[in-house]
Amino acid sequence: MTALPLSSRSLLSRRRLLFGSLAAASLGQPFLRLHAQALSLSRELFTLGVASGAPRPDGFVLWTRLAPDPLQGGGMSEVTGDVPVDVRWEVASDEGFRRIAAQGTASATAALAHSVHVEVQGLLPGRPYWYRFIVGGARSPVGRTRTAPAETDEATPPLRFAFASCQQYEQGFFAAYRDMAAQPLDFVVHLGDYIYESSWGARHVRHHQGGIPTQLAEFRNRYALYKTDPHLQAAHAAFPWLVTWDDHEVANDYTDDVSPRTADPAKFLAIRAAAYQAWYEHMPVPERMRPRGAGATIYGRHRFGRMLDVLLTDGRQYRSHHACLTGRSASPLADCAERLAPERSFFGATQEAWLARELAAPPSRWTVLAQPTLLAEADRKRGAEHGYWMDGWDGYAAARTRLFDGLAAHRANGGNAIVVSGDVHAFWAADLRRDDQASAIATEFVGGAITSEGPSAASVANMRAKNPHLRYGRSDKRGYALVTLDARGGAVEFRAVDDEKQADSGVAAMARFSVERGAPGVHVSSA
Ligand SMILES: [Fe+2]
Repeated sequence: MTALPLSSRSLLSRRRLLFGSLAAASLGQPFLRLHAQALSLSRELFTLGVASGAPRPDGFVLWTRLAPDPLQGGGMSEVTGDVPVDVRWEVASDEGFRRIAAQGTASATAALAHSVHVEVQGLLPGRPYWYRFIVGGARSPVGRTRTAPAETDEATPPLRFAFASCQQYEQGFFAAYRDMAAQPLDFVVHLGDYIYESSWGARHVRHHQGGIPTQLAEFRNRYALYKTDPHLQAAHAAFPWLVTWDDHEVANDYTDDVSPRTADPAKFLAIRAAAYQAWYEHMPVPERMRPRGAGATIYGRHRFGRMLDVLLTDGRQYRSHHACLTGRSASPLADCAERLAPERSFFGATQEAWLARELAAPPSRWTVLAQPTLLAEADRKRGAEHGYWMDGWDGYAAARTRLFDGLAAHRANGGNAIVVSGDVHAFWAADLRRDDQASAIATEFVGGAITSEGPSAASVANMRAKNPHLRYGRSDKRGYALVTLDARGGAVEFRAVDDEKQADSGVAAMARFSVERGAPGVHVSSA
């Protein structure tokens, strides 16, 4: 028998392996449609990379999505029909996969766009692990992740994490993520605007496909476009992520069931259901966050030993509708009594009560409140008049007072809270005070935007002049923030991209702040 050339042999064996795996998944099916695409399938199944998230002391969530044709619906259904596909996963305690710590098989189904969410358990706390997925002859890239320290661990080593938000794909390259992927981090927090539903801003360097998504298939394609970015994939493959959302994952400036773009709340809730579904399909989050219709519970506490609790919140799904509406603007710069109304809520009653309970509980050394937008009061109007942005916390002033009461009680109880925020496309550091005379009860850092355009320097200067508790502000650079915390103190560093319009732009430290237990408020180290 004549030997096949090596390339044909490997193609054949790959095809057989793939066939075997798909056939195993399709027991009871009369036959399986399998054609030429199956061959490319075995080479390019993991086009959206791999990710991990929600680290616990004994495990984490692993994510991938099978997408041989990522920008056109994924391409799996054309190959497998509705047959679920077995996805093998392996977790190893070494990079070379000589010591397998856990393994199993997950099922990728068309109902979830052939994404998989594996909740790995039974691992050791506070150490790195490596993971990969296998389908037939195709192996995913290897991801690295990390379990959280044991909850009783008194001697937790310093923790290091990054936080980021706002990554309009057309407005810049993701150099910030290339820089982030090279840092020694325990985890990453994403504060929302992971995708943008709309095209806006100047000097686009690349383009969305299609218009504003309203259907599930369109949201899937938008996530896929963003997730084809190699630097974003690298940051996902390097660390576990904690993710929440803001408005652009669904529609600009939406509040609960109201969107400025969709007059009918029932119609908007159908869009929200599609958007939440696509978010789940593309995020390394556990099954308990899977949407049921237009709702999904994504807030919660993530504990890192005795060192840190991250309180991750949802600032969009349960909000009161915008206050002080005038004319056509959905989130006006305004002032009116309505914005102060006590019944207005930013987090909704249930989440607000949960957050109050968390802040009243015996504290870890540090508490990070991860929430979408600038928490500190910000009078934005020029001149002597006052004007507030109704989509921000200023439109929910009484809810902020209640949150400040919770933060003050937390501090009185020995807690040390740092608020990390996104959304406003600028870097800010703020003293959080209950009123002008009082001392700070917590410190807030807003970590810029990965790419999204910011406000003008003049507007930042005006805000600083009118709001003295805003101790640092810059809007001319894109980037993200790094946080290091140990038993006594730590540091926050703002990292700035030189020029997000250049694919190979450098990224460097722009400002540093120290944080001290028992001494909340902004302490500038270098700026
Ligand atoms: Fe944004």
